[in-house]
This record gives sequence, structure tokens and C-alpha cells, in this order.
Amino acid sequence: MSERAVPKHVFIETYGCQMNVYDSERMRDVLAPLGYAVAGKPDDADLVILNTCHIREKATEKVYSEIGRLRAHKERRASEGKGMTIAIAGCVAQAEGEEIMRRAPEVDLVVGPQAYHKLPELIALAARKRGERLAADFSAQEKFDALPARAPDGVTAFLSIQEGCDKFCTFCVVPYTRGAEFSRPVADVLVEARALAERGVREITLLGQNVNAYHGAGGVGFADLLEQLARIEGIARLRYMTSHPAEMTGDLIALHGEEPKLMPFLHLPVQSGSDRILKAMNRKHDAAHYRDIVTRLRIARPDIALSTDFIVGFPGESEKDFEASEQLARDVGFASAFSFKYSPRPGTPAALMHGQVDEAMKRERLARLQSVLSEQQSRFNEGQVGRTLPVLVAGKGRAPGQKHGRSPYLQAVHFESGAREGEIVQVRIIGASQNSLAGSAAALEVA
Ligand code: 5AD
Ligand code: SF4
Repeated sequence: MSERAVPKHVFIETYGCQMNVYDSERMRDVLAPLGYAVAGKPDDADLVILNTCHIREKATEKVYSEIGRLRAHKERRASEGKGMTIAIAGCVAQAEGEEIMRRAPEVDLVVGPQAYHKLPELIALAARKRGERLAADFSAQEKFDALPARAPDGVTAFLSIQEGCDKFCTFCVVPYTRGAEFSRPVADVLVEARALAERGVREITLLGQNVNAYHGAGGVGFADLLEQLARIEGIARLRYMTSHPAEMTGDLIALHGEEPKLMPFLHLPVQSGSDRILKAMNRKHDAAHYRDIVTRLRIARPDIALSTDFIVGFPGESEKDFEASEQLARDVGFASAFSFKYSPRPGTPAALMHGQVDEAMKRERLARLQSVLSEQQSRFNEGQVGRTLPVLVAGKGRAPGQKHGRSPYLQAVHFESGAREGEIVQVRIIGASQNSLAGSAAALEVA
């Protein structure tokens, strides 16, 4: 008599950046052939993976408190004679693997970002022998090759083209957790993009910690890669993140004006508006360089909108330095932005710098900057009212007959239309809130 396979469930909690979102999807794919279905919550999962972020201290602490919560579920399941494997993936796993094992005995497995293709093997090992830990390696090529190309759920997909970072901004753990910069071969990227297009994907977001530092063999730069991807039939929209100002080459800026598939929305972190602080951050650009890129982008593509990251309270930041950040925000006018209090990360040069800014001062500056930025975001969204935007239909909306989709600026748009998923519809924007737009479909674009 053949044994009936008991369905198993995996729950993956994702923290941090889009790279982690992408990695979590690939982990699901690698586990599916082993019979793991996706669970909606951790309570009844056989396997729980926390895909962690190490970029700020708060993100790391969240992981430990989540592990604490999982302990109760694990104990309850054990009392019912069922197991629960707890795996910690992502950058905290990479940076603090041994510390996690010491601090959290309920964790069975720690797996760094370069080893996800080994998950099935590791899970089997962990089931047999508690505490099996992978020494994290940095063989990024192996990881990309070994993970299956994922079946996307809808009309948009991420495509990871580059990993790691050699920039060594003095505040950042990424060069230590994700390793040296590595670009995937052009051919592999094109094969994956074509496969996505064949499955109905219309919009691809290219991912990389330093995505515009991409360099393929034979001198293929990032702009060249974008041009090749734009030729793929079916792909209507291209985006990329996260880019570095020092890698915004002339050909990439020009492409924003020449390639209509390249969406007029760019996330370009600036971190600070003060040259003194930018230098201490080892950002490899000054404020004037950043402003110059923005000017050139706007000449190439007048409707381009920008988003950015700021850090406030970096060691040595004076009131004058902070005001330079505020001024830069005012001058550029961002469509959206993330701003963070500086968080000293162990092992990074900035953590040891003199002039650490006290918490209350960081909080106060963050609030001041955020009020400038959130006003800009509201103004940007309200500015769309009355315009007609091409919206990629992503699915049904909440009400009958309603659809939701994405504007070129990544805003969620809700509107009534008979259009099908994957179509690009011209939508007249009739209302705006902080996070989404309301529209009415004007006409169908043949796309
Ligand atoms: N403290 C605060 N913010 C940080 N970031 C990266 N490292 C730190 C840190 N140590 C922010 C940067 C980066 C974004 C992903 O996170 O703004 O662009
Ligand atoms: Fe970190 Fe700087 Fe590299 Fe971005 S460019 S990942 S902030 S070191």
C-alpha cells in the first residue's frame, strides 16, 4: 500500500528590501516540489522561515521578538506530536548566525542569502539533527543558477540581476552581509525575462543592491541590458531598483528619454544633502552631483518623478548639515521618500565614529524631514488629479466591476473598467489620497 503524502505547510515572513521579497518567492519555489504549500499564518506551519533584514538595529530586534512568539507555536505543536522547523534566512542569518543559535534555542536552521538553493537539503538535515548550520558562502552565481525561475502570480515580476555591493558606505552592512558585487550573465537575464513575458508578465522590476552597477561580460553595461530587455515582446514596462548616484551614467540618463518602456519613476537614494556628511558616509558623490543628475534626468524625461532615501543623525551631523538635507529635499521635490534615523551597525566604520548624535535629536530631525517629505508626496499624488495616466491592470478591485492597477509612478489606482489583467488602460485620475489614486477609465490602449 502506498503511503499518502501528508501535506506540509511553509510560512515565510519577509522583512526589509525588495531583494528579500524576491528571495522569499524563490524559496517558496524551491520548496514546492517537496510538497510544501504556503500557509497564511505561522501557527500551523511545519516550516517557518523568517527572511530577515539587518540594515537597521530595529529590523534585527524584530526578528528576535518574532522568534519569541514562534516559540509558543512550536511548543504547542510539539505537545500535539507535530514538529515545527524554524529557519532564519536573510541578512541577520548571514551576519549573526552563531549569535542566533546561542540566543534562540528554538531555531533549527540558519541560512544565509547565498545558500537558498540548498534549503531542501538543509531542512532534511535539520529534521534529523537539530542545529545544523550552514557556513554562509558568497557563491552568488551558484545561487542564481540553482534556483528555479519562478512562476509569477500576475502581470508584474521582479528579476534579480545583480547582488552584493562594493561601495562600502560607512553606515551600511550590505557589503558585509551580501558580499561583493556580482552581475548575472546577460544571457541568463534575457532567458528569464522572456520566460516571464511568456507567462503574461508585462512589467519587470530589475533588482539589485546596486542595480545600475550591473556589468555583463563583454562590456555590457546596465543601459545596454535595459535596451535588450526592452526589445522583448510582451514586456511593456521596465523599472529598476536600487540605484546609486555614482552609477547614473550618461547613457542611462539618456535612455530615460529614449526608451518609452522605461517608467518615469526612479528610486535614487541621496542619504544626505550635506557634502561633509556625504564624504563621511563614503557616498562617492556630493550634493551638487546629485542635483545635476536630477536636472539631466528631467531634461531627458520631463515627467520623471523621483523617490529617495535619507538618513538623519549620521555621526557628526550638525544642525547646518541637517538643514542641507531639508534644503535638498525642498529643491528636488520628491514624489516619495524613505527617511531613517541613523542606526549604528556593528562592524561598520560609522559605528565607531566620533560625534554620535543622541536619540532625541535624531527623532526631532526625522520628524522635521518627514513633514517636508510627506507634504511633497501628498502634493505629488494630488497633482495627478485631472491627468490621464496609463495604468497597468493588475486585477479585480474591491467592488464589483472595479479594477486595480499601477500608474507609471507605482501608485495604486482603483477604477471601474471591463479591461482585463495585463492590459494598459488610459485612466483619468479623479481623486488622490496619500497612498492611492481613484480614476475612471477613459479609453483602452492597444498594448
Ligand atoms: N542606519 C539607518 N539607515 C540605514 N540605511 C542603511 N543602513 C542604515 C543605517 N545603518 C538606509 C539607507 C539605505 C536604505 C535601504 O536603508 O538610507 O538607502
Ligand atoms: Fe549599502 Fe551604500 Fe552599497 Fe547601498 S551603495 S548597499 S547603502 S554600501
